[in-house]
Amino acid sequence: MTKLDTVDVLDGGQAIAIRWVDGHCARFHAVWLRDNAFDEATRSPANGQRLITIQDIPEATRIEEVSIIDDALQLRFAPDGKRSLHPGDWLRAHAYDVSPDQRRGHPPPEVKTWDGMFDPVDVTAGLAAITERPDALRNWLDHVRRYGFARLTGGPVQSGALLEVVNTFGYVRETNYGKWFEVRTEINPSNLAFTSLGLQAHTDNPYRDPVPTLQVLYCLENAAEGGDSQVVDGFRAAERLLQVDPEGFALLSTYPARFAYEVADRVRLQARKPMIELDGRGQLAAIRFNNRSTAPITDVPYDDMAAYYDAYRRFAEIIDDPAMAVTFKLEPGESFIVDNTRILHGRTGYEGEAGSRWLQGCYADKDGLLSTLAVLEQQAERTFG
Ligand code: OGA
Ligand code: ZN
Repeated sequence: MTKLDTVDVLDGGQAIAIRWVDGHCARFHAVWLRDNAFDEATRSPANGQRLITIQDIPEATRIEEVSIIDDALQLRFAPDGKRSLHPGDWLRAHAYDVSPDQRRGHPPPEVKTWDGMFDPVDVTAGLAAITERPDALRNWLDHVRRYGFARLTGGPVQSGALLEVVNTFGYVRETNYGKWFEVRTEINPSNLAFTSLGLQAHTDNPYRDPVPTLQVLYCLENAAEGGDSQVVDGFRAAERLLQVDPEGFALLSTYPARFAYEVADRVRLQARKPMIELDGRGQLAAIRFNNRSTAPITDVPYDDMAAYYDAYRRFAEIIDDPAMAVTFKLEPGESFIVDNTRILHGRTGYEGEAGSRWLQGCYADKDGLLSTLAVLEQQAERTFG
């Protein structure tokens, strides 16, 4: 860890500026530091939860005294004389002094975007390995966090085995499609996924709010001709759109699109969300893209609609660019997981007798996966320092 170098008081104590020995600088506000004090009166030593409310912090809070002791900042606040100690590495990890322009249109820092050159072998593990070995599971979940996509091989060729995948990190998110759903050719399909048609790369269930954040597709049979799986990094596609067509990017990320899915007398789901969703700082938050379930878009003003459609087309062309897609064929017992807020998945059409291609799919929650990963990382840190 880089050590603290200097600290200066700014604006009459309303903030401080810290410099680390490697030259990195960051400013912090007095009220923020006070709110994030670690003492027993501020946070419960038993569960780490905050005991105070924002109103318990005096409005005129400022820093009266600050010094560096053992690579921690020792602070005294006015007007109440409160003291706190903040470790230097904790401050470095929680710095927020970043210009918003640096984030605009970019993915979160823990994410690494990819294109068709990405080798799925690099994110493939054995189901037995991740079930039995915490280090293998940690590594595999880290792939999901970073690349939004990972594969598994060597699972049982057995209906419902996809639950074993989800059980390694969390829980299934049940929907109108059930705990899991069958992806195979049906006579009266309730979804075009349940036919032999090719599917343009898409995110699932954009008509649902909140959208399922993870999807698992598990192969039980794949003797059909065709039916290859494709995945595309939607964040990389958005980055490319921002580069070639910033106005188009602005349209798709500002105006909500509309998505809907209906099954007579059973389901009437709809959501209004942008195709490219940004968070409050302008960083990429989620992609929604699904030709099958896009409803009439009514939230774009008349004067912007033609340009909106141009941008939609450009975005689709980037997504369909073969240089963006990673293609592979699932074998029975193999599966993959995608971050459904980022990665689009699709398949080529297939031909074959009924039953020649059979996948099962289900949804799960990314926050739970990230929580399991964080716990595994903490345990590994404790073990290996
Ligand atoms: C789905 C889907 C792809 C496939 O069921 O959501 O996109 O490979 N299926 O059948
Ligand atoms: Zn799908």
